Order: sequence, then structure tokens, then C-alpha cells
Amino acid sequence: MARTKIKDILQQEATDYKVTVKGWVRSFRNNQFIALNDGSCMNNLQVVIDLNTNEELLRAITPGASLSVEGTVVASQGKGQKVEVKAEKVELLGACDPEKYPLQLKNKPSLEYLREIAHLRFRTNTFGAVFRVRHTLAYAIHKFYNDNGFVYLHTPIVTASDAEGAGEMFRVTTLPFDNPPRMEDGKIDFKEDFFGKATNLTVSGQLEAELGAMAFGEVYTFGPTFRAENSNTTRHLAEFWMIEPEVAFNDLTDNMDLAERFIQYIIRYALEHNREDLEFLAQRLVDEEKQKPQQERSEMGLIEKLQFVLDNKFERITYTEGVEILINSPAYKKKKFQYEVKWGIDLQSEHERYLVEKHFKKPVIVTDYPKDIKAFYMRQNEDGKTVAAMDILAPGIGEIVGGSQREERLDKLMQRMEEMHIPAEEMEWYLDTRRFGTVPHAGFGLGFERIVQFVTGMGNIRDVIPFPRTPKNAEF
Ligand code: 4AD
Ligand code: MG
Repeated sequence: MARTKIKDILQQEATDYKVTVKGWVRSFRNNQFIALNDGSCMNNLQVVIDLNTNEELLRAITPGASLSVEGTVVASQGKGQKVEVKAEKVELLGACDPEKYPLQLKNKPSLEYLREIAHLRFRTNTFGAVFRVRHTLAYAIHKFYNDNGFVYLHTPIVTASDAEGAGEMFRVTTLPFDNPPRMEDGKIDFKEDFFGKATNLTVSGQLEAELGAMAFGEVYTFGPTFRAENSNTTRHLAEFWMIEPEVAFNDLTDNMDLAERFIQYIIRYALEHNREDLEFLAQRLVDEEKQKPQQERSEMGLIEKLQFVLDNKFERITYTEGVEILINSPAYKKKKFQYEVKWGIDLQSEHERYLVEKHFKKPVIVTDYPKDIKAFYMRQNEDGKTVAAMDILAPGIGEIVGGSQREERLDKLMQRMEEMHIPAEEMEWYLDTRRFGTVPHAGFGLGFERIVQFVTGMGNIRDVIPFPRTPKNAEF
């Protein structure tokens, strides 16, 4: 008989029909009641087995073991579930030694411990919920852009350009490390390398997305990006996923409107499709918060927070206004900030969090940053000092989106590249868009793991990507 998913059985609440279910044992009590989970949903299916089941099989039904069960769906006698399966045939697919099964050995394993056994952590309720929500968000992202007429563009992962100009790149090479070919001046000769030039893993698909936008009007990318920044924080990964829409004819305001509508759409989608998972994660957060001192606890529950983001417009301020708010804040006057605040600085995470969590208490879009702290491609404002940039800051996370209107004027763009020592001859393909039918356009990048963190309430970015890549860590 074809396998029925546990989610379908629990959702339907119908009874008196035969099923085959397959999954992993979560618990087994009184030699009779198996809690079976197949990953299709948070809840386990209760399987009631015959009291005459043979001893050997009974001993093998331990947490982690995999079973195939044929039986009948019946109304449940017990509390906690409406229906259960009365087993007629139980087959052990794979045993699981309870003396060695890591998830069994620790009672309430910590998130840190589970990170060490990331190959097994999907089987816990928390990570089951997190990764189902991650999936839903990924799906909602594609749905949003598809329904809005965007073309999904696959931008390269290996590239010779440094889109952000930040130089935090992983080199891709097939040259021998011990004896690379060298030029007369002793420098490594990348002409001999696989691609005939120095290449790296991409930090962003934006520059190529811009090329697509100049033909399709509206495109987006959704792929892995890589940054070799040595930041061991709860918000940084060396390999993370980014969504980058790029839209011809959009200005900065259109860009902000799109980002806001997009973020609200995917959050709403998750609330509608993963309610059970989000309620579980909300409760997990409540339990976790109980360990914290009163003043550090958040005022809102997870679901409330998400609903709040749907019901309220994001605050929009300029960088200059943001700096003024910070300088006039009680925190500044009491010297609570570790980093200096003055016009021209890059906002530190403590500043961003102050604006979002203490001052506005909602997501904030900060625009028009000083040009010296932003990338070369951002559109220069009339004041000569700022660029048409926008960052979206979210409570509890900080920056989740970085974007801008792009500099579509060839002369201004080339002048900025020269000032920033970006060699134009390597970027001719990019500059061509400004030569052949240039138009105003804008786009942004949403850090996928950061939005997954925001929606699931997970405090550490390592817990929202299946196999995190961070400095000194590339296990699995
Ligand atoms: O602000 P960033 O660097 O912007 C860009 O890369 C632009 N090219 C995007 C665009 O305009 N198309 O990165 C965008 C977002 C950040 O706001 C953050 O959410 C996420 O990517 N991000 C990271 N997420 C996890 N780990 C890291 N190391 C990240 N660096 C950036
Ligand atoms: Mg940024």
C-alpha cells in the first residue's frame, strides 16, 4: 500500500480506513504506544501496537528506530490526539542503538550541542520546525516574485568581480599551492589558472542581475553567496543565501516599497502555512526567555511580533536623522554606546539596535548614507555627500536588507570607480548597460538566513541553515 503522510492523517481527522505509515520512533511507552514522526509535520502519530507483539520487535522499538506500520486509523481513546493508528503489521526498517544514539543520551540537548550533531538535529522538534519554516519562506519568495512577473536569473557562483568592493572573497583556483606559476615580478600568474584570470566565489549576484534587469525589466536572484569576513557573530555566515531583486525604472522609494511588501508577504505566508511550527517556536522562545533577566526579555511573543510587522508600516528615516536621534538619545548621553557616533561613521550593530528596538520599536529603513561607507554602484545624491542607499533594520537582528538606487549615469559611475580604485577595464560589461540604453533602476539584497532568524526567533544564525559555514568550521 502506498505510504500516507502523517500530516494528512492528523489533518483529516477521518477514521476507519487503512494506511501504511513510515517514520522514526520518537518515544515508546508501556510496550504499546509509539509516537511516530515522519517529518511531514510537528506532531507525532500515535501508533498502538498489539500486546502480543513479539519480544524481539518490542525491544527494537526505541527512539530513532525507523518503522513501517500497516494499520487502521481509528478515533483515539487517549488524550492529546483525535486519531491514532491501530497497528496490524509493524516492520522494523532500521534499528537505533539507544546506548549510542546522541539524541537519546542527552536529556534536553542544548542548541550548542545540537550544532555539533547537525547531521541528526533535523530530527528534533525545534529544528524540524525551523527547517520547515525555512522551506516555506524559500517557496514564498519564489511565489512572490513569480506572481509579480519577475524573471528568476541564475547568476554565477564563480566570478572574477568583487561586487561589493569589500575584498572579502574566497579564491577559486586550480593552481598548485606549493609552486604556482609566477610572472617576472614574482607575482602569481593567474593567466595560467583555470579561468585564465583570478577568480573567487561570488559575494553578490547584483551586478549580473542588473544586466538582466536591463532586458527583462524585473529580475531576482536567489542563491548562495560567500564572504570571507572573519566575524564570529550570531548574524554572520561565510556561506549564506541572498535574494536580490533588481528592477528597471524603480527609484529609491519604489525600492523601499517593494522590499516592505516583499517582507510582509513572506512573513504572512509563513504565518498562514506554518502556524503549528511557529507556535512551537514561540513557546520555545518563551521558555528560553525565562532564563534571562527581566529587562532583557522581549516585550512581544514571536507570533505577536510577526503580526505587528504585518500591521505596521516600516519607519523610514535618513542616515542623517538616524545619527541625530542617536546623539540625542539617553543612551548616548549616559555613554552607553561602545562605538563613537558622529556623521560619517558606519552604524554599528549597537546603534542599529537602539534605533529599532528602543527608539522606534519596529522595522526601520535607513536611507541616504554617506557615500564613503557604501559601494561604488550606488546613485550619488545632489548633496555630493550621500548616496541613494537603503538598509532595513529588524528588531533583534539588525540589518536584514541592503540595497540602493543604482548610479545609471556613466560619467558619474566611472568617476566614482576611479575614486575607489576599481579598474574600469575589468568592468566593461557592467559599464555597457550605462552605454546602451541606460535607465534609472534599483534593487536590494535580503539575507535569507537573517529573515529566517527573524521569523523563527532563533538567536543564532548557525541554527537556521542546515550546515553552517563559519570561521574554522566546515563540518559535514
Ligand atoms: O548589504 P549587503 O552586503 O548588500 C549586497 O550584497 C548588495 N549587493 C545587495 C543588492 O543591493 N543587491 O548584503 C545584503 C544582505 C545584508 O543586509 C544581510 O542581510 C545579508 O545580506 N548578509 C549576510 N548574512 C549572513 N552572513 C553574512 N556574512 C552576511 N553579509 C550580508
Ligand atoms: Mg549591507
